[in-house]
Amino acid sequence: MEETNRELFEKVVKVAQARGFVFNASSIYGGLRSSYDYGPLGVLLKNNLSKYWWKDIDNDSAVSIFPVDTAIIQSSEVWKASGHLAEFSDPMVDHKPTGERYRADQVPDDINKEDLTEPRQFNLMFETSIGPVQNENSTVYLRPETAQGIFINFENVLRTMRAKIPFGIANIGKSFRNEITPGHFIFRTREFEQMEIEFFCKEEDENKWFDYWVKKRMEWYKSIGIPDTSLRLREHSDNELAHYASKTVDIEFLYPWGWGELEGIANRGTFDLSSHEKASGKDMSYFDPETNEKITPTVIEPAGGLTRTLFALLCSCYDEEEVNDTTRTLFRFDFNIAPIQIGILPLSKKDELIEVSNNIKNILQESYRTEIDVTQSIGKRYRRQDEIGTPYCITVDFDSLDDNSVTIRSRDSMEQERILITDLPGFFSDL
Ligand code: GAP
Repeated sequence: MEETNRELFEKVVKVAQARGFVFNASSIYGGLRSSYDYGPLGVLLKNNLSKYWWKDIDNDSAVSIFPVDTAIIQSSEVWKASGHLAEFSDPMVDHKPTGERYRADQVPDDINKEDLTEPRQFNLMFETSIGPVQNENSTVYLRPETAQGIFINFENVLRTMRAKIPFGIANIGKSFRNEITPGHFIFRTREFEQMEIEFFCKEEDENKWFDYWVKKRMEWYKSIGIPDTSLRLREHSDNELAHYASKTVDIEFLYPWGWGELEGIANRGTFDLSSHEKASGKDMSYFDPETNEKITPTVIEPAGGLTRTLFALLCSCYDEEEVNDTTRTLFRFDFNIAPIQIGILPLSKKDELIEVSNNIKNILQESYRTEIDVTQSIGKRYRRQDEIGTPYCITVDFDSLDDNSVTIRSRDSMEQERILITDLPGFFSDL
């Protein structure tokens, strides 16, 4: 990482931890490497992103998408059929002098390549056992992707929702991979959240839908506040393609250390439905009422990472500026995405001001995420709200008791304007 970018990375991590977005997991016991807990603001931000992701696909009249929420632990037969038991591995090498292990393509530059063992395959699935008796039949795996939960429910959704292709099924939740080299904060962790769609269509329409999803997902990242200039598309070369994919385009983000994957859009063809049909003996086909034929639909898969998106957003929105000889740190979150949208700051803890503040919160909290902040000086409270990315603060002062007005301060411009309390809902709905 270049020095300036390392500095940015370290600052983002520091503010995210100091302000309650992300904590080191098991921190009171010294932490667990590359494992993180999400704090109050991180949870709000993550929830907003997942809601916004769902809203974007649910509101799109061009496609119909059904949600599922599938189990993390499934029958091991699922992973046999999907190819994960045989194929979901990375080449691992040992560094002989230290015993450290690295993914073969992620060995740090300062390591002497002659000190490495030959690569060997390491399966990334976490293994555990189910029930009180431990034997080979009790072995189960934590899901390494949310996608398979969708494929194994294809027929259930088809039947219960009377779905007609083209349609999609969306699944969001935790996935687990025993990554050999996790790192870069929450970019690559062993436990993370995915948001995946499997979109079932006719083979002749596969290119149309592939392009549709690439464009749509790219627009979504821009809509949450990631700048155009930090996003690009990169098509996988033939030797990089996963065994199940005929074409994959990654949406990449410019992380502090360079370009890297944010989401992959893959044409998985009929691989998954056919594999599960063969392994389970259950019919996984679709009856096409237009042609009276049974077909196995082709699948276009936009597979994103929720926790990785959160990290990309933190990097995109982090900013600093000099104000009156001090550095102001802020996250420039979009109004719709910010964990707290409106901070309500009574000038003092006097009951009258708290009462007005509570009234304002009651008016706004139905539609917006609000927080009353009473601690410390008003200047420090503005700084804290800037640091957590709150787009607007409302200050309640003693004049408010007489003129029923408050001061609204914008995070970005720092401009302040006086406004009647009764005009507040209109002010925010106009944004
Ligand atoms: N079903 C296809 C699939 O899982 P993937 O490219 O392996 O594809 C999709 O994962 C997305 O999940 C990635 O683009 C990334 O955003 C996220 N992801 C994958 N591994 C991750 C990890 N170890 N930590 C955080 N996010 C991860």
